[in-house]
Amino acid sequence: MLERYGHGGDLWTAAEAFGRPKEQFLDYSSNMNPLGPPEVVKQILIESWRDIVKYPDPAVRELRQKLSQKYEIDPESILVGNGAAELIDLIIRVLKPTTTGLARPSFSEYEEAVHKVEGGLISLPLFPQHQFELQWQDVEASLTALDILFLGHPNNPTGRILSSSIVSHLLGSGRKLVLDEAFMDFVQQEKEHSLLKLASTCQDLIVIRSMTKFYSIPGIRLGFVVAHPDLIAQLRYQQVQWSVNYLAQRIGAAVLEDESFEQSTREWLQIEKPWLMAELSRLGLDVVPSDVNFLLFAFPESSGKTVKQAQQYMGHQGILIRDASLFEGLNERYCRVAIRLREDNERLIQVLSNFMRDVYPIGEEGVLNE
Ligand SMILES: Cc1ncc(COP(=O)(O)O)c(C=O)c1O
Repeated sequence: MLERYGHGGDLWTAAEAFGRPKEQFLDYSSNMNPLGPPEVVKQILIESWRDIVKYPDPAVRELRQKLSQKYEIDPESILVGNGAAELIDLIIRVLKPTTTGLARPSFSEYEEAVHKVEGGLISLPLFPQHQFELQWQDVEASLTALDILFLGHPNNPTGRILSSSIVSHLLGSGRKLVLDEAFMDFVQQEKEHSLLKLASTCQDLIVIRSMTKFYSIPGIRLGFVVAHPDLIAQLRYQQVQWSVNYLAQRIGAAVLEDESFEQSTREWLQIEKPWLMAELSRLGLDVVPSDVNFLLFAFPESSGKTVKQAQQYMGHQGILIRDASLFEGLNERYCRVAIRLREDNERLIQVLSNFMRDVYPIGEEGVLNE
């Protein structure tokens, strides 16, 4: 199983499983921006290596200041973390909810964090017939039993944002709402949908952002949380000292200024997403509409194909896809892929097309035999 450690993008496990060097895989199993990282990241890594003899700023001042300017939020409402993953864990450790409502399917770290504090979980189901959009009636049915709701906005692996009508119901529900906006930068009209600004002053709303996906720096680790300053102070108290390293702080502050990178990313996604969706549909796959830079799709029942078969087949061809059946609430037909650059996407489609037509690879180089 490629997701042995719970996530996609594990090139080490893939290299063991498929017997090829990790550099030789096209990774569609984690959802990084293929245009990144921005040029300035390379510059910082080259120029700043001597600076690692210093401790990082324990208050992450420069990066918090830049985030504050970009999003028009008071710096006292921002805490930076070693990736959104650290902040998910930290928030749950501090809030210690008795019962948490989680949409299903959703990112597995929410559930892991709740298990670590021995909290209870209630599943809020997402249905294919609603294109995996959370419906208020499915939340309302469980509301009295919940202390907090922890939701992806947009949600992974479904790629859907919360509708504005459900957001207003949730905000008026009297429950604490934690929103993971790790993929929000990829959403068209991000400013309209993001609740970052509101979270900076609201007692019952916490918003998490990741910088690793949009800027393609998962190996550097960077994320932040926006909440009321009182809660930020509690989170800071519980956070491990110097959790955000020196290079991450410098890189974060620099990439935020790169507006042309943002612009190119939006332009690429606007063209590439509809193209890839159309190609996947042409292969007979059931593609879920997406608000982000990845796509969830299902092999139709009539094809008899499963995602596990596809993952093996594609892995031997050097392409890694995410087995989405591992997300609770999805069956063995569901698969998730990132959206990459055209040339790679064409290769993905070609290999998937062979898989759908039962064209089996032969030979060590993956030469295909019709
Ligand atoms: C929905 C979601 N939230 C958070 C994270 C963690 O992001 P980071 O790399 O910033 O820790 C991921 C990583 O895949 C994710 O998919």
